[in-house]
Amino acid sequence: MAFIWTKQRIDWYLDASRYRDFHQRLADTIRPYLLPQDRLCDMGCGLGGLDLALTPMVNHITCVDTDEAVLANLRQNAAEAGIANLTTICGDARDIREVFDVVLMVFFGPPPQMMLDCLKLASRSLIRVANAKPEGAALQPNGHSKKRETVPDIAALLDRTGLTYQLLRSTFEFGQPLRSEADAAAFIRCNSPAIADGELQAFLAENLVSTGRCDFPFYLPGRKELGIFIIDA
Ligand SMILES: C[S@@+](CC[C@H](N)C(=O)[O-])C[C@H]1O[C@@H](n2cnc3c(N)ncnc32)[C@H](O)[C@@H]1O
Repeated sequence: MAFIWTKQRIDWYLDASRYRDFHQRLADTIRPYLLPQDRLCDMGCGLGGLDLALTPMVNHITCVDTDEAVLANLRQNAAEAGIANLTTICGDARDIREVFDVVLMVFFGPPPQMMLDCLKLASRSLIRVANAKPEGAALQPNGHSKKRETVPDIAALLDRTGLTYQLLRSTFEFGQPLRSEADAAAFIRCNSPAIADGELQAFLAENLVSTGRCDFPFYLPGRKELGIFIIDA
């Protein structure tokens, strides 16, 4: 299933970014591989939650995505936070020609060639963040793509091409805050369109947690197991 941003999906991602500290934790994990003077490029940045967390650590971040709606959202969030060292490019990652100190690819790719092409735009390293395991096989709250490359796929490609890298592993909370039970059902249906009604209800009965909060009264817990590749350019 291709990843398509809808207004509803954007709202779910923004809600999740406000509720949990996934992007800050990820930023803190890759911080040792960045320098204050670095110019970064995040390919397929989406809503740029990671980039917003990284801006205090580097000189500049260029955020590239094909979807103008997510980039407009990112620019607005950056402006509201007083962030001046982040710019966006609406376009295909394959069309970027500028060279950066570090290129990021976070839950972005395939095809495999994309990473090799992006690596040519990095003068020091390409940092690739990917799921440790395939998503979407079960009812994963955030499992929207069965085709996305996982850590073993990427490691195999890097080993085949003789590229050198470090592989870090981390697990972070990646659950979804929800505004109502109907919101929870819509969220699951969006990520698993073929699910039967009975299966959906059983999944919610087993997994949906009441938070006691007014803004997000429900939460679908989820842990994200990540592989973080620091690939030498
Ligand atoms: C799964 S999302 C990941 C977004 C973000 N990196 C994150 O971690 O939340 C993949 C993103 O890549 C973008 N995308 C897909 N194909 C692209 C391409 N050829 N060039 C640039 N962006 C692309 C999509 O619009 C989407 O925002």
